[in-house]
Amino acid sequence: MKAKIAVLPGDGIGPEVIRQSLKVLDAIADRFEHTFVYYYGDVGGVAIDKTGDPLPPATLETLLSCDAVLFGAIGHPKFDNDPKAKVRPEQGLLRMRKELGLYCNIRPVTIFDKLSHLSPLRKEQLQGVDLVIYRELIGGIYFGAKGRSDDGTKAFDTCEYHRSEIERIAHLAYQQAAKRRKKLTLVDKANVLESSRLWRETIQEIAPQYPEIETNYMFVDNAAMQLIVYPSQFDVVLTSNMFGDILSDESSVLVGSLGLLPSASIGSKTSVFEPIHGSYPQAAGKDLANPIATVLSAAMLLDHLNLDKEAATVRNAVQKLLEAGIGTADLKGSHVFTCSKVGDMLEALVSDDELEFREEKFGTSSSTII
Ligand code: IPM
Ligand code: MG
Repeated sequence: MKAKIAVLPGDGIGPEVIRQSLKVLDAIADRFEHTFVYYYGDVGGVAIDKTGDPLPPATLETLLSCDAVLFGAIGHPKFDNDPKAKVRPEQGLLRMRKELGLYCNIRPVTIFDKLSHLSPLRKEQLQGVDLVIYRELIGGIYFGAKGRSDDGTKAFDTCEYHRSEIERIAHLAYQQAAKRRKKLTLVDKANVLESSRLWRETIQEIAPQYPEIETNYMFVDNAAMQLIVYPSQFDVVLTSNMFGDILSDESSVLVGSLGLLPSASIGSKTSVFEPIHGSYPQAAGKDLANPIATVLSAAMLLDHLNLDKEAATVRNAVQKLLEAGIGTADLKGSHVFTCSKVGDMLEALVSDDELEFREEKFGTSSSTII
C-alpha cells in the first residue's frame, strides 16, 4: 500500500524518538513492500520560535492531507516557567486535537513481564494487568469557558459536555470492550459534578445496546486507588478529558516507565499517533530517551492502516528486545544502549524476525550484537 504520513517531531526528545520510529517504519515498508511517504511539519515550541504560532497553517494543511500523523512531543520549560506567556507549545497540541476532531484518545497499558522489577507494585499485583484507557479528548474542562476577573484575582475553567460528545466515544469504547475481556468501567465524579452525572446517565442508556459487556461505574478518586491496589480488574476504562489525562500517567507507573506507553487519537479527520510522555527537555539531544513508546505508537498507526501483520511485527521486535534485557537507561536492563542504537536494533529485528541476540557480542557495536 501507499500511505502519506505526516511527521511532527516537535520539541525536546520528540525529534530523536521520531527518528527511531521512522527507521522501523521504513524497515516495515521494505519488508512488506509498502510505500510510506513522509511529510514533515512544525508544531509546539519549535513552531513558535520559527513562526510565532504553535500550529502554523502549513502544518495543519499537511495534517489534513495525510492518511495518519506520527507525533513526537511538545513543551519547553521556557514557556512553563512563564505563566504570563501569551503563546504556549501545548496550544498547538490542543488546537491540533480540536481541528482534527480527535475526540477519542486510546491509551493501552500493557505489562512487559521482563520489566516488572521497574514497577513499584509487586509482581503478583501485576498479574493479568491489561487495560486500555478511552479518554475523551476535545471536550470537558480543557476546552470549556475559562477566564479571569477584571482584577485578575479570580480564575475559572468550566467543564461542559454534550450528550453527543459522550455517546460517540462511548460506542468506540464498547466496541473495543467487545473485542477484549468484555468489561467497561466508566470513571467519573458523579457524586459531585453535574457533567459526570450526564456521563453516567448517557452510559446507562447505551449499556443495554451491548448486553455482552459488563458495565461498571467508579468515582475517579476510587479509580486512582484501585489502579494501584487491584489494576487487573480493569479492561476498558472510559473517562473524560481531564480524568483520562491524570489516570493515564498514573497507569504508566504499572508498566515501569512512561517511555513505554503509546497512544492513538482518532476522530473525524486524520488520526494521530503519539507517545504519552512529554518532551523531557533535560534529555533532549543526548540520545538517551526511550524510543519504544513512539515505536509502539507507530505500531498503532499500522493497525489503523489495517496492516495487522506489520503492526504485530513491530510489537514482536519490541518484545524480543525487552526479553533480551536490552533498552535505554530508564529500563535499568542488563544491557543499556542509546536511543539511536535501540532504534537500530528494532529496525534490524523488524527486517528479519529470525534474528537472535548473541550475548557475547554485547558491548561492541549495535550492528554486531544480532
Ligand atoms: C497528554 C499531555 C497533554 C494533555 C498536555 C501536554 C497538554 O499531558 O497528552 O496527556 O494534558 O492532554
Ligand atoms: Mg498527560
